[in-house]
Amino acid sequence: MKLVYSPAEWNPLWLNHLRENQKIGFVPTMGALHEGHLDLVRKALETADVTVVSIFVNPTQFNNSTDFEKYPNTLSQDIALLEKYGIDYLFIPDTKTMYQELPKLKIDFGDLEHVLEGKFRPGHFNGVGIVVAKLFNMIRPSIAFFGQKDLQQVAVIKRLVYDLNFPVELITVPTKRELDGLAMSSRNLRLSPTERKQALILINCLRFAKNELLSGKSWRTVKSIVAQKFQDAEGTTLEYFELIQPNTFEIYDEFDSNLTSSICVAAFVGEIRLIDNLPIIG
Ligand code: PAJ
Repeated sequence: MKLVYSPAEWNPLWLNHLRENQKIGFVPTMGALHEGHLDLVRKALETADVTVVSIFVNPTQFNNSTDFEKYPNTLSQDIALLEKYGIDYLFIPDTKTMYQELPKLKIDFGDLEHVLEGKFRPGHFNGVGIVVAKLFNMIRPSIAFFGQKDLQQVAVIKRLVYDLNFPVELITVPTKRELDGLAMSSRNLRLSPTERKQALILINCLRFAKNELLSGKSWRTVKSIVAQKFQDAEGTTLEYFELIQPNTFEIYDEFDSNLTSSICVAAFVGEIRLIDNLPIIG
């Protein structure tokens, strides 16, 4: 595995792979790697000829400065892990390389900005959109891999690629979970042992809601039962629990088994904000 720190270093390598007609697979991350990230890496290794992973904790997508400052950094472990997996390149630019100056450009993803993550984390998708566009232009991958765990991010990146004609194929990889169901996340590292147990409320409520909907309960009833469960649980605060169309993020008021839908949740467990989602059909 070769460490690459800048586009200048990457460009001649990219050109060699282009000449060989090799497909470059790209997995952008913010590090603190876990099995969820590694599922994306495995998928890239089996799909592409050359695999590039990036680690860059992007300051412009954090709407909360404490969240940014406390974002886990496990770079030496990450490097060892990726080395073991046999990826070809690890791109680790520093902030100056990514942002000589802060971008003046703003990306507004329209309706996607007004709901769920867009609404509760103002500016977040602008930061994600810009950094992913920059990374795509720097690495110029043929295929890029994103996790279903961040479902609205997937919708945003699809829109970015579609609207700006990035010549990149997107592959979405299912959410990787701990044995007890908690969605893997770098932020889980910040949970205390008590909070780690409390965090199960997210997946438990998603699974409960899915079963109830499939057995005929109305969405309104299910949603209010879930809100009550969060009220009753210690140490957790529900931000949203919504039934949505997974590409447009249109919010559904009722469940329709003929429509593809997902349930999305965001909640604070102590100080840590966690998100998760569960597809219902499709
Ligand atoms: P990060 O949170 O590090 O996630 C990197 C990729 O791993 C994302 O595509 C995310 O959806 C995926 N991922 C995280 N947890 C997962 C899980 N449990 N199962 C499957 N995939 C999972 O997402 C970002 O970084 C950033 O926003 C980024 C795209 C790198 C832009 O800065």
